[in-house]
Amino acid sequence: MKPIQVGLLGIGTVGSGTFEVLKRNQEEIQRRAGRGIEVTMVADLDVARAKSIVGANVQVVDDARKVIANPDIDIVVELIGGYGIAKQLVLEAIDAGKHVVTANKALLAVHGTEIFAAAHKKGVMVAFEAAVAGGIPIIKALREGLTANRIQWLAGIINGTTNFILSEMRDKGLTFDDVLKQAQALGYAEADPTFDIEGVDAAHKATLMSAIAFGVPVQFDKAYVEGITKLESQDIKYAEQLGYRIKLLGISKRTAAGIELRVHPCLVPAKRLIANVEGAMNAVMVHADAVGTTLYYGKGAGSEPTASAVIADLVDITRLHTADPLNRVPHLAFQPDAMSNLPILPMAQVVTSYYLRLRVADQAGVLAKVTGILANADISIDAVLQREAGEGESHTDLIILTHDCVEAKMNQALAEMQKLTTVLAPITRIRKEELN
Ligand code: NDP
Ligand code: HSE
Repeated sequence: MKPIQVGLLGIGTVGSGTFEVLKRNQEEIQRRAGRGIEVTMVADLDVARAKSIVGANVQVVDDARKVIANPDIDIVVELIGGYGIAKQLVLEAIDAGKHVVTANKALLAVHGTEIFAAAHKKGVMVAFEAAVAGGIPIIKALREGLTANRIQWLAGIINGTTNFILSEMRDKGLTFDDVLKQAQALGYAEADPTFDIEGVDAAHKATLMSAIAFGVPVQFDKAYVEGITKLESQDIKYAEQLGYRIKLLGISKRTAAGIELRVHPCLVPAKRLIANVEGAMNAVMVHADAVGTTLYYGKGAGSEPTASAVIADLVDITRLHTADPLNRVPHLAFQPDAMSNLPILPMAQVVTSYYLRLRVADQAGVLAKVTGILANADISIDAVLQREAGEGESHTDLIILTHDCVEAKMNQALAEMQKLTTVLAPITRIRKEELN
């Protein structure tokens, strides 16, 4: 059978990995897919660099629309990134009746509803395994492997750059800026690294997983997003003393009132496997009613790990290419006419536990006032740690771990504590998840 012809839009970190792995493993891939998969056309702004990667047998152009217009191309792989030109190109490819593979979580988290609707109408597939957790087949697991289950919650380390930064800062004592530069040099970081460090990239991925897990539309605009830029090394140390590690987690939970969708730094018990995921590695825990808790671990970024996911999508599309569109796996796991309208909950309604650090005057009665405010708000304390004041110091740090409470109550209690004259600096609040 004639090989499936692929057009690559963008041959940077992921594009070049995709080309290389497809070439290196072509025989094995063909035996799995049932026919050859060949990149026959590439578009990139830097034509000379693209040619040096793909050689003389592949047509290289600087205008991505020429790839889309080529009637011989069966699948368009968008690896440019961002919401700008990438959105137009993906919609144009769909309109031209091409299947699309993309690693672009930003695009799908923000414009997924429009893109999936266009693809559904046209009867083409939009595959995006590489958009979440790089090489880990988490989309396949959620959409197909766990299809028997009612999923209760998922929580994941889904940004390699920030996990790399947190690990290197803790283990090697390196500065935030130095580690970020390393992450950029290694090809982990987004074109705009603020997406990584401010939690936006993780929120894009959590939004996609949440949609697939619970059968709700992609709603990035409703996600709560907090990154790691305000984390202080002293909190990492105090957390360790209390038996926790701090990780940037993407969390989505089903509750009776709606769906929690949030990304923020989080204390996780050090004994949990996920707390020991280091460097650019990613891991996602999924808790579902029949299977219980499962954990998916692997490289969440980088050229070939991400290419592995892109090519898995190419093989899937090659196999399903001739199937009746109505019998294919739905883009978001649930049939488009069977989506749930459960709301995404505002953060104030989220229930979780907390780590609080208060810089307080080293005076009698301070602890009683603070715990009194928590008690009045019906917030139960799990543990308290007080740093001994140093020689000549008139202040100390009070660390409090709480049990679960609704965020609105915690916000109110924090506002009251902050007003105490004995609380000397803005209170640090980090959420905590036991994940059990
Ligand atoms: P790169 O910046 O390395 O590659 C993007 C490529 O697209 C560059 O070669 C760029 O050319 C080219 N390009 C830009 N605009 C156009 C255009 N209009 N037409 C044709 N080519 C264009 O990005 P990555 O490979 O890292 O990322 C690609 C996608 O994969 C993004 O959506 C990213 O979020 C996602 N992703 C990345 C991962 C990673 O580990 N890097 C992991 C998972 C997903 P030039 O350089 O000349 O501007
Ligand atoms: N910038 C992303 C990360 C790339 O660091 O995880 C993988 O999606």
